[in-house]
Amino acid sequence: MHHFHYQKDELYCEQVPVSEIARNVGTPFYLYSHATLRQHFRAFDGAFSDLKHLTCFSMKSNASLAVLRLFAVEGGGADIVSGGELYRALKAGVDSQKIVYSGVGKSIEELKYALQSNILLFNVESSQEISLLNDVARDLEKKAPIAIRVNPDIDPQTHPYIATGLKESKFGIDINESLKEYARAATLDQLVVSGVSCHLGSQLVRTDPFLDALKKLQGLIKTLKHSGIVLRYLDLGGGLGITYDNEDPPHPKEYADAIQKALDTKDLTLILEPGRVIMGNGGILVTKVLYTKDAREKKFTIVDAGMNDLIRPSLYGSFHGVQPVKTSGRKKIKMDIVGPICESGDFFAKDREVETLEPGELLAIMSSGAYGFSMSSNYNSRPRVAEVMVKGRQYDIIRARETYEDLVKGERIPDFLL
Ligand code: LLP
Repeated sequence: MHHFHYQKDELYCEQVPVSEIARNVGTPFYLYSHATLRQHFRAFDGAFSDLKHLTCFSMKSNASLAVLRLFAVEGGGADIVSGGELYRALKAGVDSQKIVYSGVGKSIEELKYALQSNILLFNVESSQEISLLNDVARDLEKKAPIAIRVNPDIDPQTHPYIATGLKESKFGIDINESLKEYARAATLDQLVVSGVSCHLGSQLVRTDPFLDALKKLQGLIKTLKHSGIVLRYLDLGGGLGITYDNEDPPHPKEYADAIQKALDTKDLTLILEPGRVIMGNGGILVTKVLYTKDAREKKFTIVDAGMNDLIRPSLYGSFHGVQPVKTSGRKKIKMDIVGPICESGDFFAKDREVETLEPGELLAIMSSGAYGFSMSSNYNSRPRVAEVMVKGRQYDIIRARETYEDLVKGERIPDFLL
């Protein structure tokens, strides 16, 4: 069931014409389909229903309060990587006992905040972090539940910037070294050694890297058990890929079945941290054509969204589908679709066949729900765009477009410059 679909010539999100929202909200804006997000969450979470498990939505992919609330209502938790994400998760009503916290650089203030919030699990990533967490917990008279994030050294066969489980990556503790750290952590009074975690990378389109990692983690869990350290949680991270263009990733059910088959115990609670697979195709970026330009070598379509709004094509060379909001039936031509930012890297598509466009017409940049708004910035002093959620026939602005005043909020010209 596609919730971004054409009726006649017109792109709809659920039952609302995208052009109607553009008229009321202005452009550019991110648009999310409630039905798609809920369906994706249920498909993923439901695929693990035979196992004790917790789906912790990876909110770095999209941290909007409305989005977080939607998943919280569905029983989901959150995978966080900062104090700011913890704040958002709590604000949206995520149960703190369903929050897991990864990241190589948690500050002392962040550790305190998370301890005071009684989160489920700290996925610790270094020896020093283990010691510091123990100290902070002692000061607060708290116990800190930990999982060691291990680096299983597995090639996820994805873009190097989003591969995280390789030996040379900064993430986690080498799986062989981790035994020593587990033994040490077990002697620290304020820590409760509860689990193991890993994350291989993002946009994985095969199950085998996950199964290889699971095998290594299960080996570790057994070794630890022999030495008297019994774990409760196995956190497999996120990373399941989606179709942007012609990728053919496993369906969540296939992914879950493969994992379930490979699990050698049902005693552990499985934690999953999906981001992209739930969000990616649940959102689009709607932008307006400003100009078209025939340069000698190329045809350019210049739109009002820029790389500051969606940086994935510039940063990773990622493919995003581009579709007209109203099809015109005009002939398709090859063009570059570019933004207004003063950088050559400011593009959404290159040499893409799209129906010829006229200024004022709307375009949808597809599959932009994950790592779209959450990676957006104010570069070139551009206010960040609005976010809108549709549910059936209704829609609401879930984040207002920033204003020029927002751009200078908190800034000050010091006295010595007056
Ligand atoms: N858990 C951890 C510890 C992670 O580091 C990540 C993503 C996830 C879960 C969620 O991964 P997902 O299910 O979304 O693949 N900005 C890049 C993606 C970076 C992913 C970083 N970590 C992009 O736009 O492709």
